[in-house]
Amino acid sequence: MAKDTLSVTDNRTGKHYEIPIEEGGVIRATALRQIKAADDDFGLMSYDPAFTNTASCRSRITYIDGDKGILRYRGYPIEELAEKSNYLETAYLIVKGELPDRGHYDRWENNIKIHTMVHENIKKFMEGYRYDAHPMGMLVGTVGALSTFYPDAKDIHNLESRRLQTRRLIGKIPTLAAFAYRHTKGLPYVYPDNELSYTGNLLSMLFKMTELRYKPNPVLERALEVLFILHADHEQNCSTNAMRSVGSSQPDPYATAAAAIAALYGPLHGGANEAAIRMLMDIGSVAAIPDMIKKVKNGDRRLMGFGHRVYKNYDPRAKILKEMAAQVFEVTGRNPLIDIAIELERIALQDDYFISHKLYPNVDFYSGIIYQAMGFPMDMFPVLFAIPRTSGWMAQWAEMVRDPEQKIARPRQVYIGEQLRRYSPLQSRPKPTQREDAVSEAI
Ligand code: ACO
Repeated sequence: MAKDTLSVTDNRTGKHYEIPIEEGGVIRATALRQIKAADDDFGLMSYDPAFTNTASCRSRITYIDGDKGILRYRGYPIEELAEKSNYLETAYLIVKGELPDRGHYDRWENNIKIHTMVHENIKKFMEGYRYDAHPMGMLVGTVGALSTFYPDAKDIHNLESRRLQTRRLIGKIPTLAAFAYRHTKGLPYVYPDNELSYTGNLLSMLFKMTELRYKPNPVLERALEVLFILHADHEQNCSTNAMRSVGSSQPDPYATAAAAIAALYGPLHGGANEAAIRMLMDIGSVAAIPDMIKKVKNGDRRLMGFGHRVYKNYDPRAKILKEMAAQVFEVTGRNPLIDIAIELERIALQDDYFISHKLYPNVDFYSGIIYQAMGFPMDMFPVLFAIPRTSGWMAQWAEMVRDPEQKIARPRQVYIGEQLRRYSPLQSRPKPTQREDAVSEAI
């Protein structure tokens, strides 16, 4: 009869081991430790740089089937949420596990909105940033600084404290993002308008000028809701892994979220939408696409906004955004980069290199084009990603904190450096050798 075990024979010793297979296809890495060549041996380890085949947690939040192009939050398909939900309702679902009823939704919305203001000292703190500071750098610093404003947040094992910090951060992050934007423009900061929706208020804090009341365009307000729903969580991506890993040493969630934002900043993650737009601008015209494709195939360039660690099929979020772009352009006017993007996608998806590498557009391929059409400068794109991802980070962090199996994240290494050497005084060390060249290349 079939057994849920893996039989392993260690050919060094001839010993046989039975390793349990859990959850339909998972072995515990620590099960390898019993496999030893000698009694004083450490035991076998798995080596997995960049965690390409290692599950770091058991999670109930987001499900992805990368081969089929499926994304679900708490079981709900992303397509249904993007069509029918709004960001705050989706954030509730992600954080709490269920869709709210009317009463719970109203309370949640109110509880987030009462936290949209920030301490006046935060404003002064932000004024200290250089005039040309990148807003994502400002966000890393300012979210980290919230840690000093809310010392009660250290009480991470207290459910009520976790709830409060979650509402606070989801409430405040649009305000911090908007202040960062206004800072780069030299414009006065706009205070939150809690009569508006979550995204309407963000648009107001970003774009309000001298009018008494900012009236968000409903199409753009809804487009932002959809973009935020699509970006709310994505299981164990780089920034979520940072959130869990940093959070595992138990600092407060603001210091932890600052680390996640820093991880999101990079061009291979949340910075990819900015990089994708720069690439499309660089290509410049539909006629120049074949040349770009050639460079990518030669390994000289990467198609930004293409490829994904998990999706080996069309990213379902990119599909939704490609369709939504047309609605946005009806209000904003057409972003000419869309023609280059669509043609680039068409050519790439017929090309053997992209087919064999399973490279498809990811969410960042179209989000930047929409953000640009809506009037956002490119360096705000990753900030617009960080705002909705906050609900995902907080949900993943809380799940980690509650999980009795989790401990401080501390990977092992395979040491490949020098064996024991003895120190010699500076004056008696040999003259520069080849080894010193290696030293100068070390950093
Ligand atoms: N353009 C061209 N070739 C690519 C691309 C790309 N965008 N992405 C991967 N490849 C190729 C690699 O050259 C490699 O080819 P090889 O096996 O012949 O050497 C192969 O595909 C595998 O690439 P890896 O880098 O090993 O794949 P990995 O899973 O580590 O990377 C990543 C995933 C980082 C997203 C990568 O596809 C990439 O750099 N894409 C561009 C940046 C981007 O769009 N990032 C956004 C990701 S989505 C998000 O964060 C929301």
